[in-house]
Amino acid sequence: MKPVRQNGIFFMAQKRDNSAWIKGGAISGGGAPPSGGRAWRLILLGAPGVGKGTQADLLCERLGPLHLSTGDVFRAAKSAPASERTPAIERALGYMQRGELVPDETVIDLVRERVACLRDAGGFLLDGFPRTVVQAEALRQLMQAEQLTLDGVLDYELPTAEVIQRLSGRRTCAGCKAVFHVVTLPPKREGVCDHCGGQLYQREDDRPESIQVRLDAYAKSTLPLTEYYRKLDLLIPISATGSPEEIFQRTLEALQARV
Ligand code: AP5
Repeated sequence: MKPVRQNGIFFMAQKRDNSAWIKGGAISGGGAPPSGGRAWRLILLGAPGVGKGTQADLLCERLGPLHLSTGDVFRAAKSAPASERTPAIERALGYMQRGELVPDETVIDLVRERVACLRDAGGFLLDGFPRTVVQAEALRQLMQAEQLTLDGVLDYELPTAEVIQRLSGRRTCAGCKAVFHVVTLPPKREGVCDHCGGQLYQREDDRPESIQVRLDAYAKSTLPLTEYYRKLDLLIPISATGSPEEIFQRTLEALQARV
């Protein structure tokens, strides 16, 4: 990967392998910050469906940090054979399917088991964690023990009606996990992934009955994190209206302002 400098920020050319995070195994390569650039350590905040995963792909591909999504870990566990799933994971999948938050202790254990990913020299982008103040405190302690500092918390904001439209129209590839939208990002052939030819499906928690539960859980448990990080002077509010590229450019400008 050859980094390129643009407006004071170094760009990478491809997304890094995050399988150590997904599978919980040893990290490969260890990563390195782009030469002359910095290893970003960031958190993505925002309602379900606001576009965190979409921005994470752009940020990780171009700035080089590892994409660490707790939702992706649970979804990968769901596709694993039943014999490989622990009782704690089975229970977590039930919460997820209903749109509820998985209990803090399960999520914190999962992150603790993968703490080597936080140490990655290329930095990290946490997506979907922390989601409660208890999780944020656990992360603070983990990072303190590892002598790591957080660069910022990107808080994406969008009116609820648009959030619901994004969630209800999302389709995900069963093969490569690429994300589409029936209106704003339709595949070339209906129901078929443009990238790998896999079948597109609707996530169980993107059905109307689960969407409302997720929005309620966000308002009750995750929204207080904006105040938590504002007090630490880490909150970076970003409007999530417009195209993914426009939002990405807005994000870069906000990061540049903090360099
Ligand atoms: P998780 O996987 O983290 O889901 P989420 O936060 O609900 O976020 P989503 O993946 O649904 O949405 P997103 O913001 O990434 O949007 P996307 O980019 O796909 O968590 C799932 C579940 O796991 C939780 O409900 C919980 O049960 C459990 N869980 C995970 N972490 C946990 C934790 N820490 N504690 C407790 N429980 C936990 O975009 C959405 C759609 O919009 C797509 O179709 C996309 O194409 C489209 N789109 C994106 N950007 C734009 C744009 N700019 N314009 C138009 N369309 C757009």
